[in-house]
Amino acid sequence: MSRQQASPFQILKSGHSRIRDVRRANIITIGKVSDSIKTTFGPGGMQKMLVLPKGDATIASDGLAIINNMATSSPITQLLIEAVRTQHELAGDGTKTVVILAGELLKKADLLLKMKIHPTTIMGGYNKARKRALETLESTGMRVSLKDRELLQSIASTAIGGRLSGKERELIASLAVESVSKIAEESRGKAKVDQDWLTIRKKAGGSVAESRLLSALVVYKERPSPKMPSRLTGAKVALIGSSLDPLTYNNDQTLREYEVNTPSQLREIIKGELEFNRGVVKHTLRAGAAVLFCQKRVSKAIMKQFADAGILALEMVSQEEMLRLEKVTGATIVTNVDSLAPDDLGAAALAEFRKISGDEMLFIEGARRSKVATAILRGGTPQIVESLETIYRSAANAVAKAVEDGRALHGGGACEMNLSTDLRAYSKSFPGKEQLAIEAFADALEEIPKALASNSGKNPIDALTWLRAGHSAGSKDLCIDAGTNAAKAVDAFLVKHHAINAASDVATMVLGISDVIAVTNPAAVQAAQRETEAEQNRIQGERLRTAFKENEALKEVQTIDRQVAERLSRPESY
Ligand SMILES: Nc1ncnc2c1ncn2[C@@H]1O[C@H](COP(=O)(O)OP(=O)(O)OP(=O)(O)O)[C@@H](O)[C@H]1O
Ligand SMILES: [Mg+2]
Repeated sequence: MSRQQASPFQILKSGHSRIRDVRRANIITIGKVSDSIKTTFGPGGMQKMLVLPKGDATIASDGLAIINNMATSSPITQLLIEAVRTQHELAGDGTKTVVILAGELLKKADLLLKMKIHPTTIMGGYNKARKRALETLESTGMRVSLKDRELLQSIASTAIGGRLSGKERELIASLAVESVSKIAEESRGKAKVDQDWLTIRKKAGGSVAESRLLSALVVYKERPSPKMPSRLTGAKVALIGSSLDPLTYNNDQTLREYEVNTPSQLREIIKGELEFNRGVVKHTLRAGAAVLFCQKRVSKAIMKQFADAGILALEMVSQEEMLRLEKVTGATIVTNVDSLAPDDLGAAALAEFRKISGDEMLFIEGARRSKVATAILRGGTPQIVESLETIYRSAANAVAKAVEDGRALHGGGACEMNLSTDLRAYSKSFPGKEQLAIEAFADALEEIPKALASNSGKNPIDALTWLRAGHSAGSKDLCIDAGTNAAKAVDAFLVKHHAINAASDVATMVLGISDVIAVTNPAAVQAAQRETEAEQNRIQGERLRTAFKENEALKEVQTIDRQVAERLSRPESY
């Protein structure tokens, strides 16, 4: 998009600018963003190369990353970016759908504006169409539960789309389904999925196929000493939040400095250190802990004493891991080891070091909470593993949303075709111009299967006419075959629901904006106020001067009148 086209500002005065024909300008901007996103949509969509400000380049295919990095100078894109972010936060998927739909709704509205249909009428029609579409969506959803593994696998692989292919997509989709079923909690027929319990560990090197799921909390640390136990069952667990190293400050890793002048001072320091070390191990043993996690540093001497005492101890455990361990084992994080009491301890059904793809890590199966899952994601390069995390999260999220909500929809454009077919029939019940707006909404929805068709190398018009015929004849699951198991393309209900709502919001908001005045700084506002006052004073002065002049002129006329009257009263002068 050229900056000139996207920047329809006309500078009025310093600090202020007014956009000419703002509605059209906004429609053009969002339409162009939408067209640019369209080529990346669906399993056949292309990727975008993002060139970052410092010149670094990265490849992205998910809507949020692309739109976040788009350089447009128009403030209206901010509205779209907000809608996309909300879609990502609430639904975790469907961000491109929002952009494409919003762009198409606005492009269709532009055609109606050119026909001199008032924006309020279009907005009214769009709101009716949105309400109807969401109602239809409610009635067409398929039921889905944790038991429907095949359906959940389809939802996960639809969410992955073209970002992975073949066996890799199926593997990551199955890990996503498995992880959700491991952490989901069911009560009274309702499932609740707290995705905080799904931990991801990324490891570059190896292939995506080596990724796996573990039904335990994993602390990515090796066994510090061969003398420490490698497997414990039913062990008591202590969590220490402060440093266990007498040579460092309490919660810091800065080394203490001692000034030693005499041998006896040195002896005192060494004695103090030994007492501290003995105290730590004594308090741990007295409380009954067999496993100890310390968020800070543990001195070598104390580690050795733990090993000698048969205690499994790990240092520098991250705060995130400590908090998870607290919930999983039921232990309380204590900051003073001297006060460690049996009540502060939690329990691990199993604590075991295992090697995964050559890396040793500690598996913890909690006694308090067993519904935890850790995905180990592998890939050739750090970038691959990073993007694998995004893909995996979106798949797990789609499954979680579907399981919690209990509903799913036919994908591949089938759901949009259902809605547009219904909306066309529905529009006929409106005799006024709103009918055209409702039809325009239906047209915009059809752009979704058209984009899927064109991105998979098909003629979009042929595909659309074929879909229209099928859907009118009642084939409600007829969809675009994007060449990757289209018959099984299934979207989570909430993803589509949010997307249609968000796109309609953006379109109606943009249509409702008739003028924009951008104020760049407060000083400019004051200057403008001063200018306005000066202008008003000038006008006032002008008026007074005119009035004065008129008064003077009147006086002159009156004088002349008087002189004329005097002359007339002396007829002899003529
Ligand atoms: N195998 C398939 N065949 C046909 N359509 C598919 C297939 N897999 C996914 N789709 C469709 O692709 C669309 C989703 O594409 P995509 O994931 O690129 O966009 P999005 O979900 O809107 O954006 P994002 O995932 O970046 O947030 C959905 O309409 C879905 O039904
Ligand atoms: Mg998607």
